[in-house]
Amino acid sequence: MEVYLDNASTTNVSKEVFEEMLPYFRENFGNPSSLHGLGIKNRKIVNKSRIKIAELLNCKKTEIHFTSCGTESINWALKGLAFKNKTKYEIITTNIEHHATSETCNFLETLGFTVNYLRVNKEGYINLDELRDMINNNTLVVSIIMANNEIGTIQNIKEISKICDEARTYLHVDAVQAICHTEINLETLNVDLLSLSGHKFHGPKGIGLLYIKEGTHIGNLIHGGQQELKRRAGTENVPYIVGLTKALEIGISNLDIYTNRLNEYSKLFLDRLDKEEIKYILNGPVVGEDRLPGNLNLSFKNIDGLTLTYLLDKRGIFVSTGSACDSESIEPSHVIQAIEVPIDFINATVRFSIGNETTLEELDYALDNLVDILKNEM
Ligand SMILES: Cc1ncc(COP(=O)(O)O)c(C=O)c1O
Repeated sequence: MEVYLDNASTTNVSKEVFEEMLPYFRENFGNPSSLHGLGIKNRKIVNKSRIKIAELLNCKKTEIHFTSCGTESINWALKGLAFKNKTKYEIITTNIEHHATSETCNFLETLGFTVNYLRVNKEGYINLDELRDMINNNTLVVSIIMANNEIGTIQNIKEISKICDEARTYLHVDAVQAICHTEINLETLNVDLLSLSGHKFHGPKGIGLLYIKEGTHIGNLIHGGQQELKRRAGTENVPYIVGLTKALEIGISNLDIYTNRLNEYSKLFLDRLDKEEIKYILNGPVVGEDRLPGNLNLSFKNIDGLTLTYLLDKRGIFVSTGSACDSESIEPSHVIQAIEVPIDFINATVRFSIGNETTLEELDYALDNLVDILKNEM
């Protein structure tokens, strides 16, 4: 049996999404910029997708921009603001961001920007008072990861947004993990920029989007043709736009069903470990509405996480050590270091991320094997 418990790294394209995309590879392959029938048909499809997404996220269709991935969206948000606004030179972010944000910030530092990092507590939350103290007239943008990809912490974006509003500072939110796992209503969330990526919610890889609130003073990142409301050049990836839209529609309309089930499965997972008297720490908040559903980042006592991952892999169970991007590294990830996991647990951190398609049978198989490995092979 193979059990995929690495859904925070990526998800498969759901059957419904795949079927919706298929006609756009061969029959409806026109370039949306072409003036003939095949092109116009696809221009209408791209427009329809934008309208549907705006409806799902509660924003204007002109605020939705398709990109190639979450990383591009984040790069565009931060560099686009930095290149356009010449009077403010400070960026505030957290020390638990995805590399898409932290490396973009590192790059902007080489251009003369100052980046200030908010620390997080043991559960991964920023301190709102620290943000209030840090923010000032020179702060161009605050960039916050809404749901952390490693430890699942969901930040209080509404409160963060109030602070940014009062300080007249832009707020960019990396919602790549949060979308379809927690409600995102752009009207009430009140952010200026928000990044998403299709492959985290059963859409295809290689498609993302950037929400840009009307009135945001932002430059372009990719120059060329007139696509995406003249803001992001490059021929539109119609099949992937269709796929992302369908995946978002399914994910958002079934949000409660999926999140309840994922939380139930997470509790079941932890109950079994407790019953077996396995010593572990759950990194991040308790399972519930403040934690990414299905995310279980666990540190086990005095064992090696890479070996555990390898032994699970040999039995067909696919998990991740820390974050997927760090899986080559033997250092505890920056997130695990930031939340100060105790020293005798820090080297054995494994992320199990249960997905919408995970079955109870698969979960049982994974748990039986995990318990067996921990008791008999480590
Ligand atoms: C929180 C977060 N932000 C950004 C990204 C980057 O998204 P993409 O893989 O689409 O570039 C990821 C992907 O792992 C992520 O988890």
